[in-house]
Amino acid sequence: MITCKTALSLVMVFIFNSVVSAQDGDSAESSTALESRLTRDYYEKWKNTPDVTSSTQVPTFYRRVTPNDQDLHFRLIEEARGMTLSRINARILDNDEIQEIWNLLQQHARNAIFGTEEKQCLTYQNYSAMRRASSLKVQAYLRPTVFLSLISNTDTEGPDLVKVADLFNFLVRKVWLERTRLALSLYDLEGHGYLKEPDLEQYIEELIPTIDTLASMDPEYKKFYVCSVIRKFFFFLDPGKQGKIKITKMLGSPLMQELMDVRETADKSSKSNWFTLESSLDVYNDYLSLDKKRNGLLSREELLQYPKASLTPTFVQRVYEECLTYNDEMDYKTFLDLVLALTHKNEAASIRFLFRIIDYKHQGAIDRQTIYHFFRDISKMLQADKVMAPSLNDVVAEIFDMVATKDYGWITLGELVASGLGGTVVGLLIDKDCFLAYEFREQQQQQNSSP
Ligand SMILES: *[C@@H]1O[C@H](CO)[C@@H](O)[C@H](O)[C@H]1NC(C)=O
Repeated sequence: MITCKTALSLVMVFIFNSVVSAQDGDSAESSTALESRLTRDYYEKWKNTPDVTSSTQVPTFYRRVTPNDQDLHFRLIEEARGMTLSRINARILDNDEIQEIWNLLQQHARNAIFGTEEKQCLTYQNYSAMRRASSLKVQAYLRPTVFLSLISNTDTEGPDLVKVADLFNFLVRKVWLERTRLALSLYDLEGHGYLKEPDLEQYIEELIPTIDTLASMDPEYKKFYVCSVIRKFFFFLDPGKQGKIKITKMLGSPLMQELMDVRETADKSSKSNWFTLESSLDVYNDYLSLDKKRNGLLSREELLQYPKASLTPTFVQRVYEECLTYNDEMDYKTFLDLVLALTHKNEAASIRFLFRIIDYKHQGAIDRQTIYHFFRDISKMLQADKVMAPSLNDVVAEIFDMVATKDYGWITLGELVASGLGGTVVGLLIDKDCFLAYEFREQQQQQNSSP
């Protein structure tokens, strides 16, 4: 079979020949005729040839940057990136310089009354004097805009004042953000400002030994710990499931702070922090105790026993229809997503996740029928508990009253999120405990308001 290239060169030869023969005396018109005849011939010929290789002829239009350290091109990029990062690193204050700032602040501050309290503060003159007295590197941080944005005195008569504590906290936080950004950038191998799952995995793995409360972790468990950390980041910061998170988005989210707080939480708030070893083991142990068959995966029957909620069979059924499962069994990753969605029901990411499961007709909305589909189970469960279940009409009316909709009786995902009550509505449909809590809340309010 003639390949594209040889065919093309054949055409070129014919055209060349015809041009030559035209110069030999034939009229230009006949050469044009020849050309169109050839074009037509080739066109007919190609048209009739069954082209089996057409799919292989589509040129590659996307080339992945493969980190191959033998490749000179890649090594050059690496080198350049390394130099840029170390140049940025040199501009970030170290702990000694932060101490230097603290000392300077003490020298230039004076006391002033804020409301009822006396606080250390700076005038702009004091700030400038301090700036002049500091090293060049520190000066880069003490810009006039920083002073202007931190002014906090309410007294309009006197000079503008900035509290020493505000300024110091601002600088410490800024330095922390810069350091973290740099640390994360080291794992961004492609240098596009995004972290993919394996990049973040590596970051967390290397972070673990630096945090006391995590360093002692059982090496066997490490894999599961990393997985639970990664899931939370991707669940909330990668709603479109692109498999990557923008570094600046990570820095701006409270998750990064929560992760860093693991260093400080020795005891008290550790359960509320998803990233502590304790919380992560808690979720993992739930998973293990649900897995009665000990096959490392959860079946529908096993998931129904989830102890932190009273999920309805219809909901669990839908979870297995919508989520990625293996032979109708759920793995740890999906379980983590589900736990995250159930524990943070009011977050947009969770509502989106649960909405997809609730929308069993794939119509992009919750309607009366959807509510009925899910409420049946709740009603049965309440009857089993000898609790009077409200009528379907009441529940429907209640839910449609909670969410402002464009079309009455037709709740879209956007409207559910915007209502600010998305978590409550979703809870009412899928979890008997949430339903009872809501009913109970109503009764309590009535008791409180009645004299
Ligand atoms: C701070 O500046 C004010 C003028 O704005 C000046 O009176 C005061 O002495 C300065 N304080 C210090 C500690 O330099």
